[in-house]
Amino acid sequence: MHLKDKVALVTGAAQGIGNACAQALLEKGCKVGLVDLNAEVGKESKNNLDKQFGTQRTIFIPCDVSNEEQLKDAFKKIFEHFGRLDIVVNNAGVNNEKNWEVTVQINLISVIRGTYIGIDYMKTENGGNGGVIVNIASLAGLMPAPFQPVYCASKHGVIGFTRSLAIISKTGKYGIRINAICPAFVNTPILKTIEKEENMGQYLAYKEELKNMIESYGLLPPPLIAEGLIKILEDDSLNGEVMKITTKQGIHFHEFSPQPLQSNKQ
Ligand SMILES: NC(=O)c1ccc[n+]([C@@H]2O[C@H](COP(=O)([O-])OP(=O)(O)OC[C@H]3O[C@@H](n4cnc5c(N)ncnc54)[C@H](O)[C@@H]3O)[C@@H](O)[C@H]2O)c1
Repeated sequence: MHLKDKVALVTGAAQGIGNACAQALLEKGCKVGLVDLNAEVGKESKNNLDKQFGTQRTIFIPCDVSNEEQLKDAFKKIFEHFGRLDIVVNNAGVNNEKNWEVTVQINLISVIRGTYIGIDYMKTENGGNGGVIVNIASLAGLMPAPFQPVYCASKHGVIGFTRSLAIISKTGKYGIRINAICPAFVNTPILKTIEKEENMGQYLAYKEELKNMIESYGLLPPPLIAEGLIKILEDDSLNGEVMKITTKQGIHFHEFSPQPLQSNKQ
């Protein structure tokens, strides 16, 4: 996909990975709908981006992605404001093992919903131009994360959903590519949550183990995740792929056994 003048919707765009993705998309000539629960930081981020790219290239929509009406409304506002939608980055996420239902709601259910709404807008059959959806999972979606079991489950869910829907999208000729990105630890505010009982609950007892794990993996800079996003968007051959990003191997792809579940009938 040529990115110039395309319209992207990025959830969790106020800070961290989402903000780096918005920045990279704007550098490529896109217009970006910034969606985030945190209106204060979201508006601040828009102001910073406005200084570089002008006021017309972004719109900030305060929205809790776990609220169906708010999420639908955010898509509608961005579509109406820019007149089209080409890219959806379902990035908003939390780390909360104590109030774990919220983790499933935001990290998995809202990603599923964001993907379905994005398809509704972009599907060629519905009069859309086709597009690309990128779901931000985690390396924890591919391996056990012993001190964050629910976060791990939510990210496994994102990968299974993304890969499955990518097949349907191709079969059904939606004109939409759907991929996932799995970063290792990234230097963003979410990492502060590992120190907090309100986030970690019973697993706070393993804080030092988790810190050691982070130290051994090292911290990735958010712009590297945005570089991975741009690579997925620009390479039209990528669908159903799971991009991994680590300090040791940089941007690379996970290899799965090739066959999806299928009927045994001959
Ligand atoms: N930082 C890491 O180490 C790391 C590693 C792998 C994957 N990820 C994933 O990357 C994504 C972005 O994380 P980050 O590191 O930038 O975290 P972050 O906490 O810095 O940013 C997350 C953003 O999402 C927003 N958000 C949270 N809940 C929301 C909701 N209900 N509705 C709307 N917005 C909401 C927050 O306000 C925040 O701006 C998440 O899905 C996270 O799981 C992060």
